[in-house]
Amino acid sequence: MTKRQSLHGEWSSRWAFILAATGSAVGLGNIWKFPYITGENGGGAFVLVYLVCIAAVGIPIMIAEILLGRLGRRSPINTMRYLARQARANPRWQYLGWIGVLAGFLILSYYSVIAGWALAYVFRLGAGTFSGADAETVQAAFDGLLASPEILLAWHTIFMLMTMLVVARGVRSGLEAAVRFLMPLLFVLLAIMVGYAMSTGAFMEGVRFLFQPDFSKLSGTAVLVAMGHAFFTLSLGMGAIMIYGSYLPEKASITQASFYIAGADTLVALMAGLAIFPIVFANGMEPGAGPGLIFVTLPIAFGNMPAGALFGTLFFLLLVFAAWSSAISLIEPAVTHLVEDHGHSRIKACLWAGLATWLLGIGTVLSFNWGSEWTLFGKTFFDLLDFLTANIMLPLGGLFIALFAGWVLARRDSERELGDGWGYRAWRFTVRYVSPLAVFIVFLRSIEVI
Ligand code: PFF
Repeated sequence: MTKRQSLHGEWSSRWAFILAATGSAVGLGNIWKFPYITGENGGGAFVLVYLVCIAAVGIPIMIAEILLGRLGRRSPINTMRYLARQARANPRWQYLGWIGVLAGFLILSYYSVIAGWALAYVFRLGAGTFSGADAETVQAAFDGLLASPEILLAWHTIFMLMTMLVVARGVRSGLEAAVRFLMPLLFVLLAIMVGYAMSTGAFMEGVRFLFQPDFSKLSGTAVLVAMGHAFFTLSLGMGAIMIYGSYLPEKASITQASFYIAGADTLVALMAGLAIFPIVFANGMEPGAGPGLIFVTLPIAFGNMPAGALFGTLFFLLLVFAAWSSAISLIEPAVTHLVEDHGHSRIKACLWAGLATWLLGIGTVLSFNWGSEWTLFGKTFFDLLDFLTANIMLPLGGLFIALFAGWVLARRDSERELGDGWGYRAWRFTVRYVSPLAVFIVFLRSIEVI
């Protein structure tokens, strides 16, 4: 296969790629979603399945996705089209790219609404709204936010504007620089939160909840949610990591980068869990409270710790930044597609993609208030989008990425990019057999329950 160059530029270094991909991976998924789905699915056993999925499915598929991106160096659609042609395989492989573009668009439409909650909380904490607050006050404040579609819509609009602004400027300027110091800061603040959680008196209860598996609490759906989340949190299965990989310089090690990214991502999620559950238990709250979990727990901590308003504001601000660097990668596949295949300028592509996403986001805004009764299979619009994307589309996308990299791509191509040691053989075996089988079995198990 001949070497190709990306039409959209390249990262300035291997580190820039690792930071940007970590920026994509670390986001609401780690700090907002991981704790609440862990709470809903009973704790320890769920966390264990999630960790196994990261190791056995997530990391190998991340390597595969970056590899395909760097070989194709185009939008996920054109990358798959090109790689399939090179391998003389069925041109329908390009649909993998299409599913990815669609999934990114669907995810961003609700991701932006939730990021809007975090934005609202930056200002609430900054105003000292929660000082000395108890669980009931904090819950009432959150319920009040959800009940106001116009406020949710305003924050959703602001977040979408922020996202499209950076995407319009291109990946390199802006994003690289921002992620460089924001990620470490987020880490430090999480460590402070874990420190606070240790002082609540319920720290060990939180640790047991997270790490002591009780398999009787593990349903078929829980296994599906854990696997879906492994894809979601690592930004896999929809071309985000593929497009970032397409900007990766030739010499950088894909395997090493994947381990760094997955390691940092998992650490942030576990720290978020360690910060949140002790506060939940110390205040007699419900771990299964659902999507509002961090918004009804953390403000209690901030309201009752020294300099809490300052730390709280900073914390939600960093959460917004983490969401921002993920949001950008969610829409990048669609934007590159519009630029490559429809001849739009980057700015025009951003306008169209952003507008469509914003419009769809209104559905999620309404699903928390006026439209909370509009359900299908007992799920609201937001729940449906979340389930469809995270638990179905991303694992399916990942499954096909693994199959393509393991079975369709010529061995000499993957070997040349990844090196030919035992690590390579282990990876190849995993993407050929282990990851596809794991995804398949989890799907089968969950169909019985759905
Ligand atoms: N990984 C992000 C998070 O955990 O918040 C969400 C995400 C970003 C999912 C990009 C998928 C994606 F392509």
